[in-house]
Amino acid sequence: MSTHPDAKPGEAPPDVNARTIARKFGPFSMMGRRRFIKNLQLAHATKLDMSRHSVVECGVWRGGASFAMMELFPTCREFHLFDSFEGLPLPGERDGQRALQLSEENLFVEGRNYASYDDLMRSLAEFGFAERANVHKGWFDDTVTADKIERPIGILRLDGDWYESTKVVLDRLFASVAPGGLIIIDDYFDWPGCSQAVHDFLSERASPEPIRTFDNLVAYIAKRPDDFLSQGVSQKEIARRRQAKSPPVSEAVPEQS
Ligand SMILES: C[S@@+](CC[C@H](N)C(=O)[O-])C[C@H]1O[C@@H](n2cnc3c(N)ncnc32)[C@H](O)[C@@H]1O
Repeated sequence: MSTHPDAKPGEAPPDVNARTIARKFGPFSMMGRRRFIKNLQLAHATKLDMSRHSVVECGVWRGGASFAMMELFPTCREFHLFDSFEGLPLPGERDGQRALQLSEENLFVEGRNYASYDDLMRSLAEFGFAERANVHKGWFDDTVTADKIERPIGILRLDGDWYESTKVVLDRLFASVAPGGLIIIDDYFDWPGCSQAVHDFLSERASPEPIRTFDNLVAYIAKRPDDFLSQGVSQKEIARRRQAKSPPVSEAVPEQS
C-alpha cells in the first residue's frame, strides 16, 4: 500500500520523518518501534484536512501515540485523550484465557497498565501540546460521549485492550468519524476480546466497512463516504441503497494493503 502520492510502499512520506517522531515519543508508548512508525504512516495517509477534524485516542497510557499525532498534525487543534489513569479494568470471559490469567496473576505492565494523570499533564506541557489537548480521566463508560467532540473525527485510535473497552467506544464514537477518517484498532491482532468487539459492532450495524491492515501490522477501518448509518437514514433505505450499485469509494480512503 502506498501511504502518500510521493511515498514508496512501506516508506515514510518524504515530508514526515516518522522515525524522528518515533524516537522522540516512542518512550511514552507501549508500542514497539516498528508498529509505532506504521501507525504514524497510516495516520498520515489520511487525505482529510486535519485542521478541520479532531483526533481521539481511547487508552493513552503515558501518551506516546497521542503525542506523536500531535506532532504529525500541527494544524489540528482538537485532540481528545481518554483514559482511566487507574490502569485496565478487569478482563471478561470474551477477553480469553491469557487475559484472565495475566490479570489474576497481576502480570500486566506496571499494575494493569497504570499511568499517572499528573505525569501525562506534565508531558503535555513540556512538549507544548497542552493547549490542543482535552484529557478525559475516568472509565470510558462514564467519559466517552460524542458531545464532547466538536469537529468530525479524522483519526480515532482504539487502544483499550478488552472487549468492553473497545465496544463502548465504537458504539459511541463511530458515527462521529468523518467519511474518509480512520479508526485504528491497536489490539485487533493481540486480544480476542478486541477483535470480537469490532466484529460484533460491524455486524450489529450491518456495516459495509472492511477491516484492513497496513503492512500486516496495524488493523484499521477506513470510514466509507457512503456511511448511511451515520447519517440518520432509515434501515429500509439502507437496504434499498445497498442493493443498488455501490457508490465509488472516495480518494480520501487509503488503499487496502
Ligand atoms: C495498552 S494501554 C494504551 C497504550 C498507549 N496507547 C500507547 O501508545 O502506549 C491501555 C490503556 O487503556 C486504558 N483503558 C483500558 N480500558 C479502559 C476503560 N474501559 N476506561 C478507561 N481507560 C481504559 C488503561 O488505563 C491503559 O492506560
